[in-house]
Amino acid sequence: MAAERWTPNSWRAKPIQQAPAYPDPAALADAEKTLAGFPPLVFAGEARKLKRALGEVATGQSFLLQGGDCAESFAEHSADNIRDFFRVFLQMAVVLTFAGASPVVKVGRIAGQFAKPRSAPTEKRGDVELPSYKGDIINDINFTPEARTPDPRRLLEGYRQSAATLNLLRAFATGGYANLENAHRWMLGFVKDSPQSHRYQELADRITETLAFMRAIGLDAEKHQELRATDFYTSHEALLLGFEESLTRVDSTTGDYYATSGHMIWIGDRTRQPDHAHVEYCRGVKNPIGLKCGPSLKPDDLLRLIDLLNPDDEAGRLTLICRFGSDKVVDHLPSLIRAVKRAGRTVVWSCDPMHGNTISAGGYKTRPFERVMSEIRTFFAVHQAEGTYAGGVHLEMTGKNVTECTGGARAITEGDLSDRYHTFCDPRLNAEQSIEVAFLVAELLKAERSSLPAQAPAAE
Ligand code: TRP
Ligand code: MN
Repeated sequence: MAAERWTPNSWRAKPIQQAPAYPDPAALADAEKTLAGFPPLVFAGEARKLKRALGEVATGQSFLLQGGDCAESFAEHSADNIRDFFRVFLQMAVVLTFAGASPVVKVGRIAGQFAKPRSAPTEKRGDVELPSYKGDIINDINFTPEARTPDPRRLLEGYRQSAATLNLLRAFATGGYANLENAHRWMLGFVKDSPQSHRYQELADRITETLAFMRAIGLDAEKHQELRATDFYTSHEALLLGFEESLTRVDSTTGDYYATSGHMIWIGDRTRQPDHAHVEYCRGVKNPIGLKCGPSLKPDDLLRLIDLLNPDDEAGRLTLICRFGSDKVVDHLPSLIRAVKRAGRTVVWSCDPMHGNTISAGGYKTRPFERVMSEIRTFFAVHQAEGTYAGGVHLEMTGKNVTECTGGARAITEGDLSDRYHTFCDPRLNAEQSIEVAFLVAELLKAERSSLPAQAPAAE
């Protein structure tokens, strides 16, 4: 079957799931037109660099760390918030790099993660039924008719916030904050007396010692920017296609189309129908693409999606983000892995241990930490058994000391959830829990890599 012609708006002719119902289409078209005149948020060259980095993950030479809020919010857009996220993320990355002895590709779920698919289009409270909250770029979380009406002006606000967030993150990543010599300083105040903090301090001590040795032999951060800076990329779910289309640009050096709203975009588990709009949009842009794979995805559907999204079998183009639930991984993952292997396809296998493990407790959505850990362990074990490479994790996390997921070393109970439950959507790992996960993944990664055929160290 010859692929139909793709254009940035060819998705508009397809059936679509999860599209908001804007009451004023002319105002929406206006906002989209305004956006189309704004500068891109990211450059094609950066997206290509990320694709190359993910290509090394696909071949087992590197590991993907992807994480951030379930949904970013307009109300929480302070520099402190972004910095607190970033330093926990850096801590996790450094734990994985050092303890896991592996290069790490760092991709935030940030600077554009605003639009949310929902399981029900409306929400009912008592006798009142209103549209569901679909993320700050679409409507407002307050339960009033005005707040819940999709408002196109929010597209522009989403762009503005993404730009400002990205600007700060770029400064942090390259301007000195991410210097390995600061590994001790990324420790957050409230984590200081936890078991995770002791573990982390120890690791940071060893890094400091290593850096002192390297300095003594003439390798220092002033001369070597690998020690001083890091490559940090952004990603989000490409749910709101009008927004994505407006930021789709032709790269002048290659003539190819890129989504410039973020370096990587992904397709949700609810919007991955092969003949529908979201797959149509994503197949035409050259960015790295993620595909959420849940329990309803059959091996044949997956192969069809791989054909559509990565027809040339380019390494790093496609990341399969698996989210089955801790008790379902064993039932679903092996058949997908075998299908991909049989078809000779190159993908990054990443584990989202969050979305399949959501339960309700005392009126709160939560995720038991033990189930999150268990899904990750099983994911690695299945790959080990199949002879494939568990290449990454995808986490919903925050730098804040929230109480949204139960368990962890500081045992948050169901009764604690009401203390600091701040998420706009799904429950996130707090800073301590995130670092705890990083240490577990580092162990699994180290074991996985020691069982791989010996490889020359990747050149930087
Ligand atoms: N540039 C290397 C990397 O990104 C080393 C590095 C510098 C690093 N700062 C870091 C690693 C912060 C993790 C966290 O991997
Ligand atoms: Mn979520």
